[in-house]
Amino acid sequence: MGKTLILYYSYEGHTEKVAQMFTSYLNADLKRIQPIHEMAQKGFGKYVWGGAMVVMKKEPELKPLGIDFSLYDTIWIGTPVWAWTFTPPILTLLKSDLIRDKHIVFFYTHDGGPGHIEKKFLSCLHPSNRMLGAIGFESIDEHPDQLATKMENFIQTLPESYRNNR
Ligand SMILES: Cc1cc2nc3c(=O)[nH]c(=O)nc-3n(C[C@H](O)[C@H](O)[C@H](O)COP(=O)(O)O)c2cc1C
Repeated sequence: MGKTLILYYSYEGHTEKVAQMFTSYLNADLKRIQPIHEMAQKGFGKYVWGGAMVVMKKEPELKPLGIDFSLYDTIWIGTPVWAWTFTPPILTLLKSDLIRDKHIVFFYTHDGGPGHIEKKFLSCLHPSNRMLGAIGFESIDEHPDQLATKMENFIQTLPESYRNNR
């Protein structure tokens, strides 16, 4: 297998931290997905605004990624959980024609209510892709000591052919 790209969206840094740590374990490139118009809400307002984006199935326009996807055959996609599913920028990504014929690893951070995020992600992923694995991380600030072990253990569950070639 060829190169790995880790693509993630993060509003408040938790998913970014996980993405950066995975990058340090893998021989991977890292890229943050950013909507052109990021929400500005903090506190309770962010749940209302962000939740409404999810419910309305918004696909926000993204800043140019500047990525040559043909270089990668494995793409890790990371997101926070919003309203029991993945975030609107990830919906934009999945609905674009960029993620095709790839091996996919999905990861997400949440505060204890992931809902059926993995099922929803799969249902939006183009069928030409092949899932290698998925993992969620709950309240990472509360369990910082467990994070590295959990990540390393997860990498061991991925197909041997992938681990040997990364
Ligand atoms: C709009 C919004 C909706 C959220 N919905 C959920 C949810 O349904 N379940 C959950 O466990 N956490 C939910 N959260 C919490 C985030 O998933 C969690 O804090 C995550 O780690 C944040 O990642 P980030 O720092 O990378 O943005 C929500 C947060 C926001 C802002």
